[in-house]
Amino acid sequence: DKLRSTEEVNLDLERAVQMRTADLARKNRELAETLDKLTRAQEQLVRSEKLASIGQLVAGIAHEINNPVNAIVNTVGPLEEAIGEFNSDDPAVRIEAAKDVRDMVRVVQRGAQRTKAIVTALHNYSRTDEESVVDFDVDRSIDDSLELLRHLLKLNVTVVKKFGDVGRVRGHAGQINQVFMNLLTNAAQALAGRENAIVTIETTGDAAHVQVKITDTGPGIPTHVLPRIWDPFFTTKDVGEGTGLGLSIVHELVERHGGTIEVATELGVGTTFTVKLPREISALEPRKRATGESGLPKR
Ligand SMILES: Nc1ncnc2c1ncn2[C@@H]1O[C@H](COP(=O)(O)OP(=O)(O)OP(=O)(O)O)[C@@H](O)[C@H]1O
Ligand SMILES: [Mg+2]
Repeated sequence: DKLRSTEEVNLDLERAVQMRTADLARKNRELAETLDKLTRAQEQLVRSEKLASIGQLVAGIAHEINNPVNAIVNTVGPLEEAIGEFNSDDPAVRIEAAKDVRDMVRVVQRGAQRTKAIVTALHNYSRTDEESVVDFDVDRSIDDSLELLRHLLKLNVTVVKKFGDVGRVRGHAGQINQVFMNLLTNAAQALAGRENAIVTIETTGDAAHVQVKITDTGPGIPTHVLPRIWDPFFTTKDVGEGTGLGLSIVHELVERHGGTIEVATELGVGTTFTVKLPREISALEPRKRATGESGLPKR
């Protein structure tokens, strides 16, 4: 009798275990699906953040183009007047007019050159649509980012470029541009309103890699903040100023290129982000490989 009840208990147990196993298997499937959804949501976020940052970029650029164009528009009228004075009978007026014309032509020239520089930078930035793998010059890519960030950097920030003429890298140029943009934006924001604000960009390269170091003399990152800076949505900035996605996107994009990124920081001294990229993106593309997607377009 006692034996039977043990058997019964065993049977119950077995059934319970079976149910539990089925339950776990189902939960496991659900988890896998959730993970999949999250991964897709993250990709979506990366894309929409890119759109958001394009919006900010456009606002900045409109502002940036406005100044030189205003200078041109406001100079053309007086320029025309001064040219009219060339017909004056008074030689002193003619001499004065000639001098004014030269000055004003210079203003127009500067404005036009500045506008052209902005447009060129934008062109280089957008040329690089995100799926295509191209050869691009790293130093120039940084220059383009700097050009587009002038409105953020010009307030008392000294930009020191130590370019090693590192040459070209093969990869998603648009994504790498975004890496530099995000890091330089953070540096500019860290330097805002500070004295002795310097951002130094140093590039070095060898046969296999290119290294870019972006150093700011900002406040540094406190120890309790440091481990969280790569987390999506982690920000210490005010609502509306930061989404907290900048560095998580940087991390993602650098990793996709098979590169690495490191941070070194000291309170009251500043922060350095070091990006190391392989010359060839194909060195690694961890996520795409893992999910078995086709990965890169055919070359
Ligand atoms: N150069 C830096 N100096 C000091 N702190 C930094 C620097 N770069 C990043 N941080 C810290 O890391 C946090 C996360 O940076 P991240 O770029 O991911 O987001 P964010 O700049 O706050 O917002 P977003 O980039 O979306 O506008 C920042 O809020 C800031 O606290
Ligand atoms: Mg940022």
